[in-house]
Amino acid sequence: MKTNKIKTVPLVMMASLLAFSPFIQAEEQPYTVTDGQLLDSETYNGYKLYRNWCARCHGTYGQGMAGPNLADSLNIISKDEFITSVTEGKMGQIGMMPAWGSNPQVMEGIDQLYAYLKARADGAIGEVKPKKAN
Ligand code: HEC
Repeated sequence: MKTNKIKTVPLVMMASLLAFSPFIQAEEQPYTVTDGQLLDSETYNGYKLYRNWCARCHGTYGQGMAGPNLADSLNIISKDEFITSVTEGKMGQIGMMPAWGSNPQVMEGIDQLYAYLKARADGAIGEVKPKKAN
């Protein structure tokens, strides 16, 4: 009897871990990078949006220019903070970023934009020109 009880504890722990794992997975890695350069199509679209709307201030690959280095920023700020800054704009020590809330392309692609910049922040892709996988 005693040994049975001891064995059930790790089982319950494992079961609850498994139950939560889909949520844990949804949090991490919104992108797929292969060969250091090939992006899944969603993330690649994020790069294209980034290039069109953000690169002139944040640098070709997010490395920073007039605006801060976003590969660094995304290791610090949460996804919610990212969305708020992009939607409402940001006025701070470095300067002024316009609000993008009324730009449907940026707002519809915000998850894709985030995915590309997160891949940069994680070092999954460097300061190189991305290509679309397949
Ligand atoms: C006109 C120049 C300009 C453009 C274009 C621009 N930004 Fe910015 N952005 C800035 C500046 C300047 C800041 C810094 C504000 C401050 O002083 O905190 C900033 C800050 C940010 C921040 C907050 C970073 C942090 O560490 O808190 C995010 C996120 C961001 N920009 C994302 C974007 C995205 C995504 C786009 C394209 C849709 C974009 N920016 C386009 C100038 C720009």
